[in-house]
Amino acid sequence: MFEIVKRQEMAQGSVVLNEINAPLIAKKAKPGQFVILRGHEKGERIPLTMADTDPEKGTITIIYQVVGKTTALFKTLKEGDRYLDIIGPLGKPTDIEKVDGDVVCVGGGTGVAVLHPITRAFKQAGNHVIAIIGARTKDLLILEDKMKAASHELHVCTDDGSYGHHGFVTDVLKELLNSKNVKLVVAIGPVPMMKFVCNITKEHNVKTLVSLNPIMVDGTGMCGCCRVTVGGKTKFACVDGPEFDGHQVDFDELTQRLRSYLEQEKQSYELFKTKLNA
Ligand code: FES
Repeated sequence: MFEIVKRQEMAQGSVVLNEINAPLIAKKAKPGQFVILRGHEKGERIPLTMADTDPEKGTITIIYQVVGKTTALFKTLKEGDRYLDIIGPLGKPTDIEKVDGDVVCVGGGTGVAVLHPITRAFKQAGNHVIAIIGARTKDLLILEDKMKAASHELHVCTDDGSYGHHGFVTDVLKELLNSKNVKLVVAIGPVPMMKFVCNITKEHNVKTLVSLNPIMVDGTGMCGCCRVTVGGKTKFACVDGPEFDGHQVDFDELTQRLRSYLEQEKQSYELFKTKLNA
């Protein structure tokens, strides 16, 4: 169990895909749900939303960005290596429904990996789905082909104009909100991106779902670490989410809480890199 059966580096090695043997999770998981992985007994617990599942093969796919010590450690795992344990599926699945209008799925960075099964499920439910994906530059863009297949129309944006639309995903979203009959937006990516998407869709009064990524520990609603404020109420992203009504989310508080251990995370990553290169 938990053996890596396929490993692929993306976005110049800053993003890694692992397809992992986890038959019980693959059988039960639905789009929008996540797992928590540990590499070794004293390892940090890392929550990651599944990018894909294959119940027949008994595998789940995760895609993570190398941002600190634990993800750098995960990157050293090769095909045939195993994670110590994986728990899941956790969280509530996405509420996939047939919408009376267009569905726009907006993804940024590795958020595109999370968005992919959700986009596909909205299409399979009979919706007309328009996807917008973005990255800082062409080389950092992921899953373009998969997102093309999962949607009816795909718009690609890069901040530096090296590929597709020169600018932000929000530029394209604004155009679509003015020209199409958009009834639902799903936005997954960096917190500032989700916040700006929500500011725009609020003006147009279009329902918007976001998937939040607060710091988590147990992932089962007991530690309170993942608390977020939604509509003025405290919610636990691991059991009440990870998806919420974006117009109700306090993004500024989420940003602040995500930065709580920034200094310690930096020190730990530096120490790890020093040891790795020693
Ligand atoms: S991670 Fe502990 S309550 Fe959500």
